[in-house]
Amino acid sequence: MAKLRHYLQFKDLSRKEYEHVFARTRWIKDKFKRYQRYWPLEDRTLAMIFEKQSTRTRLSFEAGMHQLGGTAIFLNTRDSQLGRGEPVEDAAQVISRMCDLVMIRTYEQKILERFAGSSRVPVINGLTNEYHPCQILADVYTFIEHRGSIRGKTVAWIGDSNNVCNTWLQAADVFDFKLNVSTPPGYEVELERNTKNYEPFADPMQAAKGAHLVTTDVWTSMGFEAENKKRKKDFTDWQVDAAMMKAARKDALFMHCLPAHRGEEVAAKVIDGKQSVVWEEAENRLHTQKALMEFLLLGKVKG
Ligand code: CP
Ligand code: NVA
Repeated sequence: MAKLRHYLQFKDLSRKEYEHVFARTRWIKDKFKRYQRYWPLEDRTLAMIFEKQSTRTRLSFEAGMHQLGGTAIFLNTRDSQLGRGEPVEDAAQVISRMCDLVMIRTYEQKILERFAGSSRVPVINGLTNEYHPCQILADVYTFIEHRGSIRGKTVAWIGDSNNVCNTWLQAADVFDFKLNVSTPPGYEVELERNTKNYEPFADPMQAAKGAHLVTTDVWTSMGFEAENKKRKKDFTDWQVDAAMMKAARKDALFMHCLPAHRGEEVAAKVIDGKQSVVWEEAENRLHTQKALMEFLLLGKVKG
């Protein structure tokens, strides 16, 4: 039985552990592509709790669990007692007696931490207001697949200092790469700005300069919809367009966690262009999370 481990933030795993998870991802992905059955999680059950909407996260966890031989159960706030005020700790006690693994997408990180504190089984962060570790797990893997080691490279984050940006900042310390961040005034990084690998830029073009990877996300994240109108105005100059990609290295990649808004945070020419790897990035959510679930439930599997 593997030791109880949660995946609530990117820094919950060490670089060595990520190296293991990435090696397992390669192996699991390769087997999947060859239609070879791999069922290490037969008879295991994943509970997926969604308090916000999702396409990729739900599909990749649900399909991933099935492909590993297990079962996934979807719960949302509206249809469960969570929406009627059952304490998170009570829900955690019950759910973790019936399931082997829990994935939660919710609002404050604190809710996730409270759940994990009362859970008997591993809990995975499927996105909170503060962090989105499963996304950067796939993103770093995708970068390595295309370009080799990310150590010492430069990643440019253009736009909002949101959950995805905060997670990139943690990843910069785990993998030792540089993160250039450019946000509009008033939207600066607050949570993870103390990392030694972080450099803020007022000008997004300067942030993109010489980068090996340029990445961005929506201007308005889930839960912040009331600010949408103001944000659209404030973020106008923070669109990743062809000129910005030109400022980066010639072989720079473009990533976006999706869903994207063409003509807002990214120009259609960029996301649909040659440097974009967004579809591979999205697909790798499936493969990396399968390796993550295997790691959390079975420890360091060899193979
Ligand atoms: N990138 C991502 O997490 O997508 P979903 O919101 O569709 O899950
Ligand atoms: N920052 C976005 C990511 C969506 C996958 C949000 O939180 O809505």
